[in-house]
Amino acid sequence: MCGIVGYLGKKEKTISVLIEGLKALEYRGYDSAGIAYQKENKIKITKSVGRLQNLEQKIKIENTVLGIGHTRWATHGKPSTTNSHPHQVGSITLVHNGIIENYIELKQFLEKHNYQFQTETDTEVATALIDYCYQETKNMISALKRAQKELKGSYAFAILNNEEPNILYAMKKESPLILGKTKEELFLASDPMAICAYTNNICYLKEGSILKLEPKKITLIEENETIPIWVTLDMEQTKCSKNGYDHYMLKEIYEQPDVIYNTVMPYLENNLENLHKMPNFNQYEKIQIVACGSAYHTGLVGKWMLEGVGNIPVEVEIASEYRYKKVFYDKKTLVIVVSQSGETADTLASLRKANKDNIDTLAIVNVITSTIAREAKYVLPVKAGIEIAVATTKAYLAQLALFSLITLKLMIEKKLIENEELEELLAHYQKLPIKIKKLLKELNVKELASKTYKNEDIFFLGRGIDYAICTEASLKLKEISYIHSEAYAAGELKHGTISLISKKTPVFSLVTDKEISEKTISNIKEVKARGAYSIVITTGQLDEKSDYYDDKIVIPNTHFLLQPILNIIPFQLLAYEIAKLRNCDIDKPKNLAKSVTVE
Ligand code: G6P
Repeated sequence: MCGIVGYLGKKEKTISVLIEGLKALEYRGYDSAGIAYQKENKIKITKSVGRLQNLEQKIKIENTVLGIGHTRWATHGKPSTTNSHPHQVGSITLVHNGIIENYIELKQFLEKHNYQFQTETDTEVATALIDYCYQETKNMISALKRAQKELKGSYAFAILNNEEPNILYAMKKESPLILGKTKEELFLASDPMAICAYTNNICYLKEGSILKLEPKKITLIEENETIPIWVTLDMEQTKCSKNGYDHYMLKEIYEQPDVIYNTVMPYLENNLENLHKMPNFNQYEKIQIVACGSAYHTGLVGKWMLEGVGNIPVEVEIASEYRYKKVFYDKKTLVIVVSQSGETADTLASLRKANKDNIDTLAIVNVITSTIAREAKYVLPVKAGIEIAVATTKAYLAQLALFSLITLKLMIEKKLIENEELEELLAHYQKLPIKIKKLLKELNVKELASKTYKNEDIFFLGRGIDYAICTEASLKLKEISYIHSEAYAAGELKHGTISLISKKTPVFSLVTDKEISEKTISNIKEVKARGAYSIVITTGQLDEKSDYYDDKIVIPNTHFLLQPILNIIPFQLLAYEIAKLRNCDIDKPKNLAKSVTVE
């Protein structure tokens, strides 16, 4: 989703900092980009649609000390050069992340004051509003304070005023924005990735901040703060390269044994010392899991774990729904938000809703410096490292591992697990990274991919916790291969969707929960009888001569709590291989963003 970079520093460096910063933000997803810089008391703007290389080809490398850059993911108005940022109205040029909700009302007001608009964006309206406030006062700080009162919605702005050379302004509400510095340079960015090549000395701006940056001088206006609180960025978190793999997604899939090791082991060492330091889950009577996308899907698996063996009722909610609905929670409820990025707007709003009502909140989050990690009462870090591919794999897997650990803690608290079973489970945890490694080494889904990649519909069937995994399997496939796909609870298929099954429609069925495998097999027979190309993914030793599947993948067995962690892996690889055969842009699928910072 949209990205911001700003720079005030060395004249020979500005353009390259902006371009390199934007390149580092590409992984977030965007459809156009632009920069603005100061040159001889004028602001020059270059914008372009599509990939950054289009912008690079247009940019003249000039010496300048001050500039701002932006990658846009269209919300208001189609991707086009005109709609892309920076926008300029009167004295003001700015880039914006977020959504101005009352832009129509503001536009009508500004039109009455002779402002004319060239674009379909909410950002141009915000630019005009700031110009209007500035023209009234000729004082930028007062203008920004006034604009802040009028603007509804979310924003992070980096702002230039062509009447005030060598000054970079910024303002933020609900969209992330950070400040960075070296001895001679100042940086702004929506994501540390944009500036981590230059500095690890950063400050997370608080809600409502207004910032004025002059050469070597910072003026910060925050509710209770005028001095930035500097923190040191963990550079390990920002290191990334494909490491010889064709795509980040494949690299991230193969990193999963280490990710599981790093996420799980700290809880198992020293007689489960860190596991016991987790919050006391037994004090709650209900858990609500709130998230978006794949993180929501981990919640669906988490529900099966927590209810099935942790014996606690769990509701799983889509954050964009939860934030606006009547929610039934009380002091005995724990709200768990799950987010890789820790910046997803709807998940953050849901967290704030629960925090505001004084409900205990816990975040399962990968980016530990993110807003969600900073605002939740408790945090369980996912140690996946930076994830670049838009389609999540390793962060999803580590989130599952954390749900298994929460369940384990609850089982211990409720005395639902005997010593012997605990020892056995711990041994399974120890072996898990090796099992994942072995599975990744031995799995070969290329042939299956070549048999299925030309289809336009693919179905995934499962029951119970297997169905929960299928929801993610289906999402992975459609995200990166653009094949229509659905996950279905196996028993529900005959209530409508079976009408879509015809000759050779691929149906992948996950059958690992032994208690209900016979039931799922009956459903597979139903689709097979209608001509489907049936592929079964199982831990069991299926009858070789069976007539209900055409192909099968066998996954190693492990403990019930850990089985989903192995089960998703063939589907991740399958989606990858299918997308590759279809020549898709695997790491940056069309229309999708890694970090969805608008609702
Ligand atoms: C986007 C990403 C998904 C992700 C979802 C939630 O849609 O493309 O991969 O699952 O956002 O993101 P979060 O960062 O909150 O996990």
